[in-house]
Amino acid sequence: MKYNFDTVHKRFNKGCKKWNELADNGVKEDEDIIPFSVADMEFVTAPEIVEALKYELDHNIMGYANPTREYLETVCQWMKKRHDWDTKPEWILPAHGVIDAFFEAVKIYTQEGEGVMLMTPVYYPMYHAVTNNNRVLVDCSLILKSSSYEIDFEDFEKKAADENTKLLILCSPHNPCGRVWTREELEKIGEICLKHHVLVVSDEIHFDLVMPGYKHIVFASLSDEIANNCIICTAPSKTFNLAGLQTSNIFIPNPELREKYLNALKRSNPNPKCNILGYSACEAAYKHCEQWLEEAISVIDTNRKLVVDFLSKEFPQIKVIELEATYLLWMDWRGMRIDGKELERINHEEAKLFFDEGYVFGAQGDGFERWNLACPTRYVKEALERMKETYKKYVG
Ligand SMILES: Cc1ncc(COP(=O)(O)O)c(C=O)c1O
Repeated sequence: MKYNFDTVHKRFNKGCKKWNELADNGVKEDEDIIPFSVADMEFVTAPEIVEALKYELDHNIMGYANPTREYLETVCQWMKKRHDWDTKPEWILPAHGVIDAFFEAVKIYTQEGEGVMLMTPVYYPMYHAVTNNNRVLVDCSLILKSSSYEIDFEDFEKKAADENTKLLILCSPHNPCGRVWTREELEKIGEICLKHHVLVVSDEIHFDLVMPGYKHIVFASLSDEIANNCIICTAPSKTFNLAGLQTSNIFIPNPELREKYLNALKRSNPNPKCNILGYSACEAAYKHCEQWLEEAISVIDTNRKLVVDFLSKEFPQIKVIELEATYLLWMDWRGMRIDGKELERINHEEAKLFFDEGYVFGAQGDGFERWNLACPTRYVKEALERMKETYKKYVG
């Protein structure tokens, strides 16, 4: 490996969300905790990004910023190279985060009382985007078949056909279910949504983190018609662990939808601001860090294999859902016959392991845990030892 995926910087009391949440749970700085929660990586930043940021600090002024032409073209080149998606710089609108973007989209393209579809269980802020804005949650439950989730298209179409349904927030790849939707599935979603005039906001933030053997397809790349009926939310933040720099790229190919979005943004803030360091980091990442990404994926995949092998041998009651993309392994612990809250207690207090609890992703997530695998492999090995030690008394 060219890059370092072993060094970890301590982040306790450093304004780090993941560790702050642990502290809120009573964890002390000197406790031997392993966090596998919040979706950022325990990997140090790629050196090319660090160099670019240093250069910026030495040679620029931290004033108001807009993306440069070169930045926008670099983003488009990444989409072509990694995803075979032809884009135009003018399609890109800035956002501090993908969550900001799908919250805005719900407000801009739907009215209070109208229906927004989610394919559940799903990334929990998507529920908030619907209910906090007084829209109606149209719940399209995914079906767990063996170790993978499927879409119930009959139910999906029935719900899309309801006159009140106006928008779908698609999570592609899917967090927490780990699916990379196939071309056939995406085309079917696209056709149904076109037929019933449902706009698609496709959150593709995990699109670069695809496991070997799978291929992500950008929703807008399916056809011009589908491109005209969607908004694609992307960011370098998951891929290169840059969430703290608050830089996302929202693609709106359809000029009318784009204008509507831009006008709404201007109404709420006539002088939108960008993060100058975020742009620099994203540009450096997309230009120079493809190898870093490949290596990060291979570490995540190694970690995945370790967990899968261990669980099948030691705790076959825990079912691991196929990880096709993201670094967030979704595990069904219901076979352990331990209540969700008690599971949380055992993991925190006895095993000193912090996963994300499945119930935060919706009712279907109860009894599940989400394991963030973007960390040094030694963390995963240590966690497996702790699981073995802790749970042997709970299983017969
Ligand atoms: C599916 C999905 N969308 C959005 C986000 C967060 O996006 P942002 O930090 O750009 O608001 C996450 C973070 O885990 C996510 O998993």
